[in-house]
Formats: sequence, C-alpha cells, structure tokens
Amino acid sequence: MSLAEEVVRLKDEKDAVLLAHNYQRPEVQDVADYVGDSLYLSRKAMESDRSVIVFAGVRFMAETAKILNPTRTVLLPDLKAGCALADAITADELRAWKAEHPGAVVVAYINTSADVKAEADFCCTSSNALKIVEQIPRDREILFLPDMFLGDYVRRKTGRTMHLWVGDCPVHAKLRPETLEQARAAHPGAPVLAHPECGCGTQVLPLVDRVLSTDGMVRFAEETRAPEVLVATEVGILHRMRTLNPMTSFTPIDAGAICPFMKEIDLEDVRDSLLRRQFEIDVPSGVAAKARLALERMVAA
Ligand code: 13P
Ligand code: SF4
Repeated sequence: MSLAEEVVRLKDEKDAVLLAHNYQRPEVQDVADYVGDSLYLSRKAMESDRSVIVFAGVRFMAETAKILNPTRTVLLPDLKAGCALADAITADELRAWKAEHPGAVVVAYINTSADVKAEADFCCTSSNALKIVEQIPRDREILFLPDMFLGDYVRRKTGRTMHLWVGDCPVHAKLRPETLEQARAAHPGAPVLAHPECGCGTQVLPLVDRVLSTDGMVRFAEETRAPEVLVATEVGILHRMRTLNPMTSFTPIDAGAICPFMKEIDLEDVRDSLLRRQFEIDVPSGVAAKARLALERMVAA
C-alpha cells in the first residue's frame, strides 16, 4: 500500500478530516479532503462532522480550528509549522498598543497567535479584510495587525483611519516592485495576480491586475482563458492552478518564494499524525473564549 493510500485509509479509520492549505506540498494537497485558503478551511473545520481535524497548514490555522471547534481533536502534523508573520506581534505588545489608542477597534489578521486573537474585536483573512473593515462604524479608529502591506491595501481601498502594526511575511515582503516590473516586462500581456501580503502589493497597484487571497487566485485560474498568468505569492499554489487549468501557463514572479513553515509537513508526517494522534493543539479555555467572538465574526463575513 502506498503512503497516500495509507493516509486515505487512516482518515476513515480515525474519523478524521484532512484540511490542507494551498501552499502545502502537492502530495499532501492530493490526499486532503479540502484544500483552500485560511477562510475556506476555517469554515470547513466547522462544517465537518468528523471527530478529528488534521490541519496540514501552520499553527495559527490549527489553533483557529480548535477555538472554533473546542470539543474536537485538532492535530498539526509537525510542530515546526509556525508562521513568521504571526510571530511579529505578541499579546503584551498588542495590549500596550491598545493602551495608546483607547476606544480603537482592533482587527487582527488570522495570521496571529490565539493570545493575540483574544485581544482583538475582529479577525479577518486576506479574502474578507475589506468586508470586515467596512462593517466597523466610520467614526471609529482602527488598529490593524500584524501585516502592514495587507493593512495598507485595506486602508487605501476603504479610506479609513487605520493604524498599522509594522509586521510582514518574509516570503511575500521580498516580492518587491522591481521584481514585478521585471517579470511584467519579460511576459508582456500576462495578467498579474498578487497576494495582499506582497511587498509590491500597494506601491505598484497599477502593475497588478488583481489583488487576491490564495483561493481568489485559484478561482481566477479556473476561469481564465489567458495563455499565461503571473503569480505573486508562495509557489505551492501553482500545483492547484496548473491542475485546474492545464491550458494556461502559470508563472511565479519569484520561483524562490517558498514558505519554509508550510513545507514542514510531508505525507509521512500526515500518516504519523493520524496513526499516533499527534500533535494535539490545545488553546487554554479562557483565551479561546475571548478569541472566539472575533473569529466567529471573521467566519460569518
Ligand atoms: P490565504 O488566506 O490567502 O490563503 O493566506 C494565508 C497565508 O498565510 C498567506 O501567506
Ligand atoms: Fe506565514 Fe508568510 Fe508562511 Fe503565510 S507565507 S504562513 S504569512 S510565513
């Protein structure tokens, strides 16, 4: 029996659903029950009736699934799967920032720890950040964290008074305007898709055709008739885009845009996770209770 077949068999045997993020290794995506972006996977974690959720993604995603499904077992197949962006702010730093802006509404990107989410009024993902910010009364000041590029994009689009935490994702921040300009010149006419975490996202908006979450990019890939599309995000997404649309050529803006955290999990880790029920993600109940409201607002938007 192949490793993939073993994983498929174990999922049923252990009453588990396997969720995989769009940046996961192709072989992990191929055996998952659902593949998608942060928002889609949070919703799928809530919809599933399986007693175990195996999250092939990074820690903040597994924590989110646990907070939204406190009675289920949530497993992260490799504890090294963290996120540099989520590490850009601690709960103590957020509390100090809030104290400087009393009365401000706090919007935390899903890429944060559970402790940070517990201090937030709203959580959002890249696919609903605009919607979430637009729900907040216009006269309220907003603290947005931790990604300054996503925050700047939302601030420009909504025209809201937003203070931005100076954090970024090292994988996306290195996708700079110069890199984008070079790629555009080398591939004239090819539409450019960029994730809002990109360091090139806001400065060169005129050079970007669409700013999209990873699932937004996948949907674009399914529908496009363009012969070539340029993609500014982590390269793991190309597997799904190419599978769904073999007629279009999907070219990364930077083939070296690889998230080391997302690549920690391989098929063997998923098999071992199912077999040994490892590694269980828990969130202290006090923290979870405080974070749940902000997350429920995210999932509902
Ligand atoms: P998405 O929600 O767009 O999948 O983004 C998650 C992420 O970590 C991007 O780096
Ligand atoms: Fe975190 Fe960046 Fe990796 Fe996404 S790509 S999981 S934001 S380090």
